Amino acid sequence: MLQVTAMRASTANAAPTPPDFVGLVHDFDTAAPVDAETARAIDDAMTHYGVLVFRAQSLTPQQQLDFASALGPLDVGFKRVAKPHNRLGHDTLADISNLDESGAIVGREHRRIVGNIANQLWHSDSSFQRPSARYSMLYAVVVPPAGGQTEFADMRAAFEALPADQQAWLRELKAEHDALHSRFLLGDTEYDAAQRAAIAPTVWPLVRQHPGGRSSLFIGAHASRILGMTIAEGRMLLLDLLEHATQPAFVYRHTWQPGDLVMWDNRCTLHRGRRFDFSQRRELRRATTLDA
Ligand code: OGA
Ligand code: MN
Repeated sequence: MLQVTAMRASTANAAPTPPDFVGLVHDFDTAAPVDAETARAIDDAMTHYGVLVFRAQSLTPQQQLDFASALGPLDVGFKRVAKPHNRLGHDTLADISNLDESGAIVGREHRRIVGNIANQLWHSDSSFQRPSARYSMLYAVVVPPAGGQTEFADMRAAFEALPADQQAWLRELKAEHDALHSRFLLGDTEYDAAQRAAIAPTVWPLVRQHPGGRSSLFIGAHASRILGMTIAEGRMLLLDLLEHATQPAFVYRHTWQPGDLVMWDNRCTLHRGRRFDFSQRRELRRATTLDA
């Protein structure tokens, strides 16, 4: 059986973590085959928590993909727009690093760096497509000496903290999500017509029901407008909601150690990477399942 304890106050955190938001999984080897019962136990834990942390793992790219595949079909995500390289040899494994094909650190003006900076905006992986992402599993290989943490925000707790009349109003609204919106926000516009057309925008309710029964805000950097509002009014609402939902009370900051595997539920969390010195090596790998 899966042994999970709640992670509460982390010294790296600005505030105590919500009690049902981050679970630390004990004595678990993600490189071992996952049977149906174990997959169910992980699903159950993920329904309770939004984030699970597995420490001291040792995973090849194939083992990481096998672990993810046991939990659902694999997502390709943004690689359908821009495919800078395939150092890891799998379309479904995202190279979350500042390295080139040969494994050397790239310069700060490299397309790889510029594009990946969008990961530093709060977002839900692949919210720009349907189905969107269910679980992301990010595995740390090399981490920089400072910075480069990943933060997670609890969109169920954030929704539940809103006044009832606002909750009712938000439930009626829908947002359009667009794969390139976060890049454009950062002035990263070097995408040709085919790349711009690669993923058509998709519409999601602003409030989604999680399978565990709780409601969740579904926002983040891919959300580009609210249906039925002007661009300005919709974006202002999205910014206000994001400000509310990413208060320290709803946020867990993960300080990486090599061998950490952190898994989150994109349906009820947002995440963002934090800045680090791009001349330092940072090498992580992400496998993602589709919410299908
Ligand atoms: C991701 C992501 C943030 C980080 O892998 O999906 O957003 O800290 N990563 O690298
Ligand atoms: Mn991400």
